[in-house]
Amino acid sequence: MSIIFDEKKKVFKLDTPNTSYAFHITNSKHLLHLYYGKKIPETDLTFLLRIPNDEPFVPATHDAMGPHSFDCAPIEFPTSGVADFREPSMQLMDENGMSACECYYKDYKIYKGKKPLKGLPATYGDEDDVTSLEVYCHDPLNGLEIILQYSVFEKLDIITRSVKVQNKGKSPLELRRLLSLSVDLDHKDFDMITLNGTWARERHVERAPLRFGKQVVDSCRGATSHAHNNFIALCDHKADEDYGEAYGFALVYSGSFISGCEVYQYEKTRVFSGINPYDFSWHLKIDEEFQAPEVIMTFSYQGLGQMSRNLHDVIRQHLIRGKWKDIRRPVLINNWEATYFNFDTEKLIQIARDAAQAGIDMLVMDDGWFGGRSDDTTSLGDWYVNEEKIKGGLKYLVDEVNKLGLKFGIWFEPEMISPDSDLYRKHPDWCIHIPGRYRTTARSQLVLDFSRKDVRDYIYSRIKEILSSANIEYVKWDMNRQLSEVGNEVLPAIRQREIWHRYVLGVYEMQERLLTDFPDLLLENCAGGGARYDCGMLYYSPQIWTSDDTDAIERLKIQHGTSMCYPCSTMGAHVSAVPNHCVGRTTPFQTRGHVALVGTFGYELDITKLSDEEKSAIKEQIAEFDKYNFLVRSGDFYRIGNPFKSTRFDAWEFVAKDKSEALLQYVQILKTPSLFLHRIRLKGLEQGQYYRHEQTGKVYSAEILMNSGFDIPNLWGDFHSYLAYFKKV
Ligand code: DGJ
Repeated sequence: MSIIFDEKKKVFKLDTPNTSYAFHITNSKHLLHLYYGKKIPETDLTFLLRIPNDEPFVPATHDAMGPHSFDCAPIEFPTSGVADFREPSMQLMDENGMSACECYYKDYKIYKGKKPLKGLPATYGDEDDVTSLEVYCHDPLNGLEIILQYSVFEKLDIITRSVKVQNKGKSPLELRRLLSLSVDLDHKDFDMITLNGTWARERHVERAPLRFGKQVVDSCRGATSHAHNNFIALCDHKADEDYGEAYGFALVYSGSFISGCEVYQYEKTRVFSGINPYDFSWHLKIDEEFQAPEVIMTFSYQGLGQMSRNLHDVIRQHLIRGKWKDIRRPVLINNWEATYFNFDTEKLIQIARDAAQAGIDMLVMDDGWFGGRSDDTTSLGDWYVNEEKIKGGLKYLVDEVNKLGLKFGIWFEPEMISPDSDLYRKHPDWCIHIPGRYRTTARSQLVLDFSRKDVRDYIYSRIKEILSSANIEYVKWDMNRQLSEVGNEVLPAIRQREIWHRYVLGVYEMQERLLTDFPDLLLENCAGGGARYDCGMLYYSPQIWTSDDTDAIERLKIQHGTSMCYPCSTMGAHVSAVPNHCVGRTTPFQTRGHVALVGTFGYELDITKLSDEEKSAIKEQIAEFDKYNFLVRSGDFYRIGNPFKSTRFDAWEFVAKDKSEALLQYVQILKTPSLFLHRIRLKGLEQGQYYRHEQTGKVYSAEILMNSGFDIPNLWGDFHSYLAYFKKV
């Protein structure tokens, strides 16, 4: 059993194949964290607590049965206002305006399987995959019931955590914060890794040693954001891709968040993650409950590479759902960078004709097909086909594209409304706004109030009608601005601050409806590129548009950073035109193909303008995609180069789970003079076995490839790439 309760020692121990997590119930019924790290055999772990009982100037609990002081103790679920001065997981306001709260243990339940989280995305698994623990706690003074939820994946080094609270008291309560995760680690000698950036430069890796105090990444924008991702990692100072200890924490949520660490006075570290308490409040009437999102946790003693592979496995196997989870996804061509808003039926059919000849599977019609939208200032919300552009109507266009042998996909931005739209003229109160206050626009648009069911129902009915009107097999769901002036004229004052979270629940509910009504639909989430790249969205769409920056060299950093947490199979990646639209750089067609091969693969260019040579290169690239896609989608990913450290090269590798094949990809960034062959060491091959390099037929031992390396041939000029495929003999 992967979760046990030691009755005598009052210890809960959660074991994955290589890790253990443990906490203890004190005689005073407090829960104290004992251990999270490499697997250990014993459960008698209470000696690990080492809580000092004579720390000066630290408030004492005066409870002989419990910890001498909360401020020194590793509290499993820290609450505010009761002399633990570190970052709390929960803060409440009762009807008397008191904000202190506590968490006392009552009971527990261990069971096979895992329950879904109501209204929220979460990992899933059947009884063979996962075991769960619920720890029932309460605050006797205000009647709040607290359920700490843990699940252990039997075959993966993954533990998930969440918390649900229920008001079983005699008066309403106001929840002011409910974080999903708090883990007190035994020391402070960590580097913290975060993924930061901006539009077209998302998820660049930043790594820095922890300092005393709080260091956080967050978003108060209503979406995860371009600026910071809600995944963080902690690793020892020397940890690299292959060696050292690393913890990864990924929040399964797509709204405002906070994730970070506090190094406190006793040189220990509290890690936390959850919904951002900034401007958050949730009114809990008697008998109402609130479910916090889930956090996925992993620990690796084999460096950051294994940490990422653990996360990739759980996301691929136990978060992504639906028809497209494990199968080849269509190679698509998207018209955005080809035409922007300037297209019509004829142009799309021209693109589709050439795409069909090149072997592309699907045409995606991006922004600009509806209302009067010919630029980004108008018509969001008017989800009616613009028949001046789409002459003959949508069904005609889709049928023509289908006749050419291509599937058809379409772009929506369901959460948005343009002030210049029929919808806004009819329903000016449907956007998120504060009555009387200026409505800030961004990209000339406002945000529809998805906390309102009537608004969602209307938008959904439009999407459903469009999708039912023709054979549409893919939707790109975009979201191009953040939330401001958050309020509406529907909810009472005490529930206004709930809109942030209600909005996110509304987005989830809409996407769930879409997938229920159209189970075969391939959904790709997008948010002005990669501003909502998180585990929440991956529950609904198996792929996310990684960034609007499609330059092959910029993508090295973006995809490297994204891969810290998210599997390559989720990364929307396309070959686009040169000079690149974001940076003006010209890279070889082959390199663009090799870099896009890491992700979902597709094209984002005007194929009608390509030379015959480039068109036949597309055929070759698609043949490569077909050959390697299973390996890329399902294999283990190894980062070999680091584009944040080297301007010379980047390299990465996919190894099949059964180690029967491996794909090494190399990009020369800037050509360095007087350095010729570059020997790259492979990783993850099966020791004692031999591998044939397909291109040359030469056979190497796994040991040679992993300890001496494979010679990348001399590449002349900047930005060239090379791909080497190995098969076990
Ligand atoms: C932002 C997306 O990231 C782009 O790919 C494109 O769909 C535009 N929006 C369309 O407005």
